[in-house]
Amino acid sequence: MDAFVIHGGRRLRGTVRIHGAKNAALPLMAASLLTDEPVTLRDVPRLADIRNMGRLLDVMGVSVQRADDGPLHLATHDSGKCEAPYDIVRTMRASICVLGPTLARRGEARVSMPGGCNIGDRPVDLHLRGLKALGAEVGLESGYIVARAKRLRGARVFLGGPFGSTVLGTANVMSAATLAEGTTIIESAACEPEVTDLAHMLTAMGARISGAGSPRIVVEGVDRLAGVDHTLVPDRIEAGTYIMAAAITNGDVLIENCPTDSLTAVIDRLEEVGVNLEPTDGAAPPTEQQNLRQSVRIASDRRLEPVQVVTQPFPGFPTDLQAQIMALLCMADGNSIITEKIFPDRFLHVAELLRMGARCLRNGPSVLVSGVHHLEGAPVMASDLRASAGLVLAGLAARGTTTVNRVYHLDRGYEGMELTLQQLGADIERVDVPAA
Ligand code: EPZ
Repeated sequence: MDAFVIHGGRRLRGTVRIHGAKNAALPLMAASLLTDEPVTLRDVPRLADIRNMGRLLDVMGVSVQRADDGPLHLATHDSGKCEAPYDIVRTMRASICVLGPTLARRGEARVSMPGGCNIGDRPVDLHLRGLKALGAEVGLESGYIVARAKRLRGARVFLGGPFGSTVLGTANVMSAATLAEGTTIIESAACEPEVTDLAHMLTAMGARISGAGSPRIVVEGVDRLAGVDHTLVPDRIEAGTYIMAAAITNGDVLIENCPTDSLTAVIDRLEEVGVNLEPTDGAAPPTEQQNLRQSVRIASDRRLEPVQVVTQPFPGFPTDLQAQIMALLCMADGNSIITEKIFPDRFLHVAELLRMGARCLRNGPSVLVSGVHHLEGAPVMASDLRASAGLVLAGLAARGTTTVNRVYHLDRGYEGMELTLQQLGADIERVDVPAA
């Protein structure tokens, strides 16, 4: 099993180019089920989750091909397959995003019910409620969600839940509604840039969608969708992670292809911490489109100020950067409070940070982080993708050697993270540790 061995204390310097967003790529790949024509996706990161989605689509009658670093080509060759089997779905919860497109295009979908995971229970009730509102019969049979509808019908759908809207639920309902009869209005839709990117792609395929990026999305159903050639939005979470890696090492890093307009809440918190992002191509004027790509240089003061961070749905501070900012605030000069409002149990990294000498006290959905002068390297265990990223950042700043075990979690969301960090001057290597 692979691990990262990090000798901390090096300042990062150099340039990183951000890849296309993993969390945009997954629902966009699933949307290829909506058409019989070829779909080409550009700037798709090379990640375990992308390979898993490719395997799933293959089983569902979509061929997925890619030559080296080229675009991903998807083409339906058998539209009779309706089942997303347990052995693939259990490797990746995001498999749920085939549900809406398969149902809408093929009249039936059987998708293994995703289980919980390390960041919480993660129900899919809102996805199912949305598809039922569009007229689908939805049931559970032997652990599979089974949904049927000859043709979906447009309806008003409310997707708000106890923790806000649902990102993949919005993707599912919006995708399904593109082929429904009549108009669908999704209220309390997720506003995340990955949903907006999906809407842009579906629109280029012939769908009629307005309001994506706002809490009300209107979809007028059409009879068929065409193929498309689409370039993904840059990955705001990958960008945020490398920004914080630069900050925690007091480095000097240029981030290219950075979606700064999708990182407003993150930039706001970081500025208060004392980390500044300077666009090197001049400040872009504000636009309504969330599709800005900039080059930004990270410059931080040696002294990091403590702050309050609350994770929230977009445009709030993303839960997917909570572990990384916690690592950074472990080195701040005073007490910070981090509150998790999306996944209130997403704190498995706290116990590992404590092993490195951090001072963190959890109370329900909040953690009090009291800054320390330095962290000490230690063997730590990654529990989920973003928790692992937080531990890598802590290791980069710590004195001594940190071994981050189970980096397969990281490989799900960061392409060649150790290579990128090596290029920036970090002392990090991937080693094969025999399983205990
Ligand atoms: C997406 O997951 C992302 N995954 C997650 O990123 C991200 O953390 C999350 O959105 C929140 O931003 C992908 O895009 C592939 P949700 P998703 O449905 O869509 C509750 C990463 O590290 N909820 O928006 O599955 C849910 O429990 C991953 O890259 C319901 O109650 O998340 C949570 O509290 C991890 N019922 C909140 O809503 C439902 O039916 C938001 O979840 C669905 C969700």
